[in-house]
Amino acid sequence: MPSVPGTPDDLVRALGAAGVRDERLLQAVRATPRAGFVPAALQDLAYRDVPVAIGQGQVTTQPSLSAMMIEGLGLSGSEHVLEIGTGLGFQTALLARLAADVVSIETRPGIARQARVNLARQGVRNVELRIGDGTGGVPDRAPYDAVLVSAAFPRVPAPLVAQTAPGGRLVQPIGPGGDEEVVCFERTASGLTRPRVLTSACFVRLQGRYGFPPDETERR
Ligand SMILES: C[S@@+](CC[C@H](N)C(=O)[O-])C[C@H]1O[C@@H](n2cnc3c(N)ncnc32)[C@H](O)[C@@H]1O
Repeated sequence: MPSVPGTPDDLVRALGAAGVRDERLLQAVRATPRAGFVPAALQDLAYRDVPVAIGQGQVTTQPSLSAMMIEGLGLSGSEHVLEIGTGLGFQTALLARLAADVVSIETRPGIARQARVNLARQGVRNVELRIGDGTGGVPDRAPYDAVLVSAAFPRVPAPLVAQTAPGGRLVQPIGPGGDEEVVCFERTASGLTRPRVLTSACFVRLQGRYGFPPDETERR
């Protein structure tokens, strides 16, 4: 087996340079081998702070961007978390280290199956992975203390607002896909607070019933 260039500490340094300060999060990145969540042909990119193609027109989120989004959730360890868009599971594994448990939903079955294998190989046990359209949330496990949406849409889908517990946080890239503001909301009794912009970024589209229209790759 060829060795992978770099180590998790390279990512920790990149996160620090991007302004991420949450020590628990930096420790989670140090303890989570990204090589276990990157396709075999792209292992040389595992410890570089870059997105990686995962097939079907999708990419992983750049690690420093993922970390900024997770930091925005302000996790302390006791939370019940919903993640929309599992990808190959690296961000899911970080959330699983930082919260009590994670429900993650991925719309593309082939990607979701690989994520399930990756998470199991890394011994991650507190994740329930569902295959399906996450724009409707996962109502049978709601409410959630924190919701992380990993794909872009101009608005927060109404079911995700409803499934966030009062006082909970929701982070989502808001935009058309390709040019977003990544924002953090808090859930109040009447809806969401005004958004706090965490950063700008370029995301794939959130596709589904309460998002952009699906395309044919979602059935694979
Ligand atoms: C930018 S990737 C992020 C993956 C992962 N969170 C990461 O950090 O690498 C976005 C993922 O969202 C998925 N996705 C898009 N629309 C979705 C939906 N309605 N429900 C669930 N997943 C969705 C895509 O298939 C893709 O795997």
